[in-house]
Amino acid sequence: MRYLDVDTAKKVSKIGLGTWQFGSREWGYGDSYAGSEAKAIVRRALELGVTLFDTAEIYGFGRSERILGAALGDSLESVFLATKILPVMPIAPIVEQRGVSSASRLGARKLDLYQVHQPNPAVRDGTIMRGMRALQRTGLVDEVGVSNYSLRRWIAAEEALGSRVLTNQVKYSLADRRPERDLVPYAEAHGRVIIAYSPLGQGLLSGRYDSYNRPSNPVRANSALFLPENLERAADLIKALREVAEAHSATPAQIALAWLIRNPVVVAIPGASTVAQLESNAAAADIDLSEEEYRRLRSESERFSPVTGAAALGGLIRSRFNR
Ligand SMILES: NC(=O)c1ccc[n+]([C@@H]2O[C@H](COP(=O)([O-])OP(=O)(O)OC[C@H]3O[C@@H](n4cnc5c(N)ncnc54)[C@H](OP(=O)(O)O)[C@@H]3O)[C@@H](O)[C@H]2O)c1
Repeated sequence: MRYLDVDTAKKVSKIGLGTWQFGSREWGYGDSYAGSEAKAIVRRALELGVTLFDTAEIYGFGRSERILGAALGDSLESVFLATKILPVMPIAPIVEQRGVSSASRLGARKLDLYQVHQPNPAVRDGTIMRGMRALQRTGLVDEVGVSNYSLRRWIAAEEALGSRVLTNQVKYSLADRRPERDLVPYAEAHGRVIIAYSPLGQGLLSGRYDSYNRPSNPVRANSALFLPENLERAADLIKALREVAEAHSATPAQIALAWLIRNPVVVAIPGASTVAQLESNAAAADIDLSEEEYRRLRSESERFSPVTGAAALGGLIRSRFNR
């Protein structure tokens, strides 16, 4: 495992574990996953040196936090625990109360990273950051982070907090490189960190799916990325991932992760449906891509232009009726 080079109280692994899947119906992994596989995934992650564990109060309506906390058990103190608040009522006393509730579901004395899950479109961050500041003062929260924030709003959040907002957790993978426009450069210039979510494009970059074999769970069945047309458009990128993977005796998913975390300010938090996936994802931290391989994948990803937004709507409606 490799670790981030930043001045945090605990070390942060370059490959973390995302736990939206834990106890969330929308991933469709069922009760035995939530009841036993999830715990086995966390225990194995610990053995492999993973320290970054990401959850949120909204995942499974608190179930993900409970499952993760129980699985970490005695290791809670030694990992870098990250959770998120959904800022529906972003006033300071509510932020404080929600932070306490998350810590209690996790069974943790401290949240190493407390993130605002997404910007509230109607309320600016002054009040939420007042709550975050109070949580930092009491020692319940160490670092503050945001998620899905534009650069302008990230900087405004730092001004409101009066200190660094260490991380911005955003969708970032070879299938979606928008954070490179301004968020990654900001992190590089100011000692901040990008936490890449959906780093495998929710499984697309594993090469496991194509237009004849589409995932059926609600998260991906309702995602434009998995429309047959987009799966076809992704074929060249996946082919390139396969070829680079072959040279490293690795898998396309591992190469997709290795590509992302090659940047020193980027960490990735893939979710996993099995222990074997977790093992493979953790091992990706040790793969070194050559400059040529890195560039090749970057240019293949530039050629991948999925149908999105309004243009994808027709396809999504059709795929819903064809299911
Ligand atoms: N802040 C936010 O708004 C936000 C939004 C989304 C996610 N997140 C966080 O980011 C985490 C990861 O994102 P994500 O779950 O959306 O997408 P992801 O990590 O790109 O994809 C996860 C899925 O990919 C497949 N997979 C994982 N490892 C694999 C491997 N080695 N080989 C083949 N397939 C593999 C698994 O699905 P199958 O086996 O079923 O194919 C797994 O459930 C979440 O758990 C959550 O913590 C945050």
